[in-house]
Amino acid sequence: MSVLRTQVGIVGAGPAGLLLGHLLHLNGIDSVIVENRSRDYVIDRVRAGVLEQGTVDLLIAMGVGERLQREGLRHDGLYISFSGHRHHIDMADLTGGKAITVYGQNEVVKDLIDTRLSTARPLFFEAEDVSVEALESSSPLVRFRHDGADHEIRCDFIAGCDGFHGVCRPSIPEGVLTTYERVYPFGWLGILAEAAPSSTELVYTLHQRGFALFSMRSPTITRLYLQVPPDEPIDNWPDEAIWEEMLARMTTRDGWMPSVGRIVQKGVTPMRSFVATPMRYGRLFLAGDAAHIVPPTGAKGLNLAASDVLVLARALKAYYEHRRTDWLDEYSNVCLRRVWKAQRFSWWMTTTLHRSPDETAFDHQRQIADLDYLTSSRAAMTSLAEQYVGLPMEVGLDSVGLSSTPHRVS
Ligand code: FAD
Ligand code: DHB
Repeated sequence: MSVLRTQVGIVGAGPAGLLLGHLLHLNGIDSVIVENRSRDYVIDRVRAGVLEQGTVDLLIAMGVGERLQREGLRHDGLYISFSGHRHHIDMADLTGGKAITVYGQNEVVKDLIDTRLSTARPLFFEAEDVSVEALESSSPLVRFRHDGADHEIRCDFIAGCDGFHGVCRPSIPEGVLTTYERVYPFGWLGILAEAAPSSTELVYTLHQRGFALFSMRSPTITRLYLQVPPDEPIDNWPDEAIWEEMLARMTTRDGWMPSVGRIVQKGVTPMRSFVATPMRYGRLFLAGDAAHIVPPTGAKGLNLAASDVLVLARALKAYYEHRRTDWLDEYSNVCLRRVWKAQRFSWWMTTTLHRSPDETAFDHQRQIADLDYLTSSRAAMTSLAEQYVGLPMEVGLDSVGLSSTPHRVS
């Protein structure tokens, strides 16, 4: 059996694990990242697309924003569409110049993997039977099999960055965590299509037939989502049926509609809100989707993963440089303040823009009134805008030795 020694064992090479690994590297802290999927699988997984201003600033300050700055699409506003009309919300105007950037999560992950490999710090893909042990001791372990050999990593700390279905959270003894959960009675069918985006900004639509979302990935690729029943088999949706439904829900009275093109990827995602507290057990720290899930309507999941690991990197840096443990102790509480506000926002966006099978006629009229108020009140639009571009990170970039100058993409 091979035995490795490191300071921080990181389980999972999604955005949380890779960002943490590089933040630690920039601060001279060693880590080993262990991922159970292949490199190609992790890079090809199509998921998030919206980066908050603070996430963009973090990536650029970390030195991994070069391609993001070149290829990312800066959006100063978005549209909310209901009753056949699109309403513009000018986020930059309402937030003193802040914006979101559309840049695929898989591109972020690709950039982070390239950067990790350039540091020559270890990153294992296709690790099998990953487990975490001795979490209450001062030397917790990550064990796995790789290329037919058994490996053990002896760590000072373990970061559980292995997503909602990972092994870290379930390794915490029963009774330690309090969990909060809400499962929604619908899911999202998402597609990538070879079609030039017909709008330069996102369009969130509430239609009689349910929610729809217009987004994009590049000047030639459109990304669209449709509310469907949860666990809907994708085979129920031939391409023609998808386009018929997308156009029925999204076409507005002024004739705007998404451009149609060849569908190159499609899939269905269920939706839930979930929080596990505290985000720590002994020397195991949970970050990102391992600790909390938001429904995708607010575009917050990847951004929360980024803010969690910033808080964790600050605490680990203070531990290694000054033997301070207070920031490790405060990790969970500091993260949860931002997590719960993003939970509330994501729940509000979701319940305001989707049709629920158990809703009453009253509920639907209230949704319309909510959206009418939102799009006609500068105060309400400002509230949406400041949350959509991202509430402030709980700790500054300077706390991990980075410059906190805001950056502009495109
Ligand atoms: P993950 O990305 O899930 O990464 C965890 C990693 O751990 C994975 O690579 C996994 O393979 C690995 N792993 C799992 N189990 C093990 C194990 N046992 N051992 C080793 N490794 C393991 N968020 C946004 O901010 N904006 C958006 O616009 C947005 N849109 C979304 C749209 C969709 C359709 C979906 C599904 C999600 C969206 N999200 C969005 C959410 C976002 O994708 C997640 O919140 C984000 O991926 C969380 O990152 P993470 O690193 O915590 O977890
Ligand atoms: C995208 C995903 C989201 O969850 C969202 O709210 C907006 C855009 C996207 O994939 O582009």
